[in-house]
Amino acid sequence: MDILFIGDVVGSPGREMIETYLPKLKAKYRPGIVILNGENAAAGKGITDKIAKSFFEQGVQVITLGNHTWDKKDIGPYLDGTSPIIRPANFPEGAPGRGYTLVQINQHKVAVINLQGRTFLTPIDCPFKKADQILEEIQKEANLIFVDFHAEATSEKEAMGWYLDGRVTAVVGTHTHVQTADERILPNGTAYLTDVGMTGPRNGILGMEREAVLYRFLTALPSRFEVATEGSAQLNAVLISTDPQIGTAKKIQRIRIDENHPFYE
Ligand SMILES: [Fe+2]
Repeated sequence: MDILFIGDVVGSPGREMIETYLPKLKAKYRPGIVILNGENAAAGKGITDKIAKSFFEQGVQVITLGNHTWDKKDIGPYLDGTSPIIRPANFPEGAPGRGYTLVQINQHKVAVINLQGRTFLTPIDCPFKKADQILEEIQKEANLIFVDFHAEATSEKEAMGWYLDGRVTAVVGTHTHVQTADERILPNGTAYLTDVGMTGPRNGILGMEREAVLYRFLTALPSRFEVATEGSAQLNAVLISTDPQIGTAKKIQRIRIDENHPFYE
């Protein structure tokens, strides 16, 4: 069974890429499950229930989030509901929502876990220890375990990949928005990629309007970031082929769609 995971969808340009290409990706690769990181889906910061519902209607089975989870202030009750949308599991006890979910796909149970790094991000609970705790809870139940590790530092992401090697099916990084080219299967069968890259504007800076970002770099003064609207968009994703009987990954393939990497049906 294959897992298709789509990287951080940024604003309306990202959502439009999903509308255009998700049906094509599904037709081409026939994934058993589609997972999407939606933490930047609403104007670059956070997600609304309306946007989440539209992703589910388009065939996304699980939505993961990250450090922007709480930016749309009314999201808490939605995260507490029954929809398969999860936020980093290592937010402190008492935060709304859940950090992992189990989805039944034919005869297989797929666990999706969302964790957040602590290096250059808010120092929340330890993602490594939280992973141990969750694995203890679900290991007997889940055939496949997918981890979206939302983190800034490459070192922390690599550390998580090695820490969970052989215990989960895949560790894929999100948050830094630029796809890395280090996909591999670790020795004990876990697929690893430092960052899947984002889905959204191609000519902004990490998806945001260049002018405001440059202004902040050049002046060190605060500026308001908006999603870039000018120019074309991109979609970044990863496809992981798995062996659901033993829970390991067989193959990991990066997917990139933009004007230099056209999609072939
Ligand atoms: Fe993020």
